Amino acid sequence: MTDVVSTVAAVRQRVAAARAEGKSIGLVPTMGALHEGHLSLIAKARAECGFVVVSVFVNPTQFAPGTDFETYPRDLESDAEKVGEVGADLIFAPSVEEMYPPGDSTFVEVEGPLVECLCGPHRPGHFRGVTTVCARLFNIVGADRAYFGEKDYQQLLVIKQMVRDLKFALEIVPVPIVREPDGLARSSRNAYLSAEERKAAAVLSRGLFAARERFDAGEREAGALVAEAERVIAGEPRVKVQYLELRDAETLEGLQTVERKAVLAVAALVGEARLIDNVVVGPPT
Ligand code: PAJ
Repeated sequence: MTDVVSTVAAVRQRVAAARAEGKSIGLVPTMGALHEGHLSLIAKARAECGFVVVSVFVNPTQFAPGTDFETYPRDLESDAEKVGEVGADLIFAPSVEEMYPPGDSTFVEVEGPLVECLCGPHRPGHFRGVTTVCARLFNIVGADRAYFGEKDYQQLLVIKQMVRDLKFALEIVPVPIVREPDGLARSSRNAYLSAEERKAAAVLSRGLFAARERFDAGEREAGALVAEAERVIAGEPRVKVQYLELRDAETLEGLQTVERKAVLAVAALVGEARLIDNVVVGPPT
């Protein structure tokens, strides 16, 4: 079982000790309820860094009022066991007061096209909460590398933009999506699905993969690729699509034709759960 600390001072002390031993520092930010997706980030950090910190913090500022902040699954003991199996060195699990003490009033916000599309309009304030908490985590831990999943593709780009703009001295390392055997992207929110919804949810990745097959067969028109995914996903009435869009994989600009690397991203409501997924197609930029 990995050690758990809950204060900024304690993390800093442990990281300073590791630095004194000449170790590089890796950070894996999470909201807990850890699954294979999170564990793949931790395993990559373990392979690349001398000292690995996993943060577990359900961040209130990235949840809109009336969404699932209160009900988000929390189980620190089981998380610590899983982290121990992958072999991280430290869990940082602060309280809300530790991260946002009374009187706190600073936010970090990326503006512009990256946050104005896909999840941005559907989740007002969400990315502002994510960048605010990640900026704080980066400052607290002082890591050399931080690991983010491609599952949250837009989040990854927004974090990279923040790191570039604010000159954080750390490298953001992307990690591929980990999926269930039927293709469903692993997510803590999959726990909200009933058995029927869980089965239906797999249509999202089937739709994305069908579009990718069309791309691999030579189709380059964005409309045709999106239509293919739509056709497959429409076969599951339990799955209510919020958006399904093909965009430039670096800038998230809209596309007519795929000439560079592009991301086909989907968000959908399945029962109580809001699920997201994506596939990247095309040559590397
Ligand atoms: P959370 O949803 O717990 O995810 C933590 C990290 O795990 C993110 O970088 C996410 O992209 C990655 N991840 C989740 N499911 C994955 C999967 N199936 N395959 C690969 N990676 C996966 O994302 C957040 O928390 C928060 O917004 C956070 C960055 C911690 C800020 O609060």
